[in-house]
Amino acid sequence: MIYLNGEFMPIEQARIPVLDRGFIFGDGVYEVIPVYSRHPFRLAEHLRRLQDSLNSIRLANPHDHQTWMRLIGRLVELNEAQDQSIYMHITRGPAKRDHAFPKDITPTVFLMSNPLTIPPQQQVSDGVCAITAVDNRWSRCDIKAIALLPNVLLRQEAVEAGCVEAVLLRDGFMTEGAASNIFVVRAGVMLAPPKDHLMLPGITYDVVLELAQAHRIRHEVRKISEAELRSAQEIWLTSSTKEVLAITRLDGAPVGKGTPGPMFARMYALYQDYKNQVMRTPGMGVA
Ligand SMILES: Cc1ncc(COP(=O)(O)O)c(C=O)c1O
Repeated sequence: MIYLNGEFMPIEQARIPVLDRGFIFGDGVYEVIPVYSRHPFRLAEHLRRLQDSLNSIRLANPHDHQTWMRLIGRLVELNEAQDQSIYMHITRGPAKRDHAFPKDITPTVFLMSNPLTIPPQQQVSDGVCAITAVDNRWSRCDIKAIALLPNVLLRQEAVEAGCVEAVLLRDGFMTEGAASNIFVVRAGVMLAPPKDHLMLPGITYDVVLELAQAHRIRHEVRKISEAELRSAQEIWLTSSTKEVLAITRLDGAPVGKGTPGPMFARMYALYQDYKNQVMRTPGMGVA
């Protein structure tokens, strides 16, 4: 079951007008929220980021916090899987085609749930390969915009190289992945690029930094150069659906020893513990 503009229905019945500005211009924003054992993970943080994205595109939030919680709760109930991935999509709505914002327009609100597929155990224990690519996106990558053509092309490049992700480089520095954030380990220190307008402020990124802080893992938030990326002992990617995953080959060369490193093993275990704690504590991921 999905939710579209006030109604829950089977996805086959969902219809939107072809003049929807999401379809015509990619004029909208989205969120992806993982649900573990029917508990949405970091829901408040996802709704806060959604609000930031909406503010950035100057679109009024169609619902208050309580309404979003209710809609997401109901959607989770209506779908069978224990672990789900909730996709939220809000566009400026349907209107005669014209770039400028139309007056009196009703936003389109679409929510769907898919079974959550986290990386298979083999990817966790062996790591995955990635390529590097020039970050040719725009300069507002902090907005979770539905217009994802550059990300689609970059991720496809990685897939065609037999890899899972493209690590993006802009002006000599690493920004993030095509659909993930990237961490690097050098000399036993976990490095995270600072949040700015050239990367998406990941919810998983925040969890990893919080875990590093709470468990006194040495870390620094600072810009990471291409040379530092290429000579890193460990590289990790993070996202809501991939969680924390080690990149063990970059552009065909092994990262460190070519296997997931000790800092990864520690962070992966901490992340799983944290997740399990959220599942056992109703409300904790909801905040
Ligand atoms: C470009 C980009 N960066 C980072 C992320 C990771 O964000 P999160 O941890 O909130 O899923 C995503 C998520 O899909 C993304 O698309």
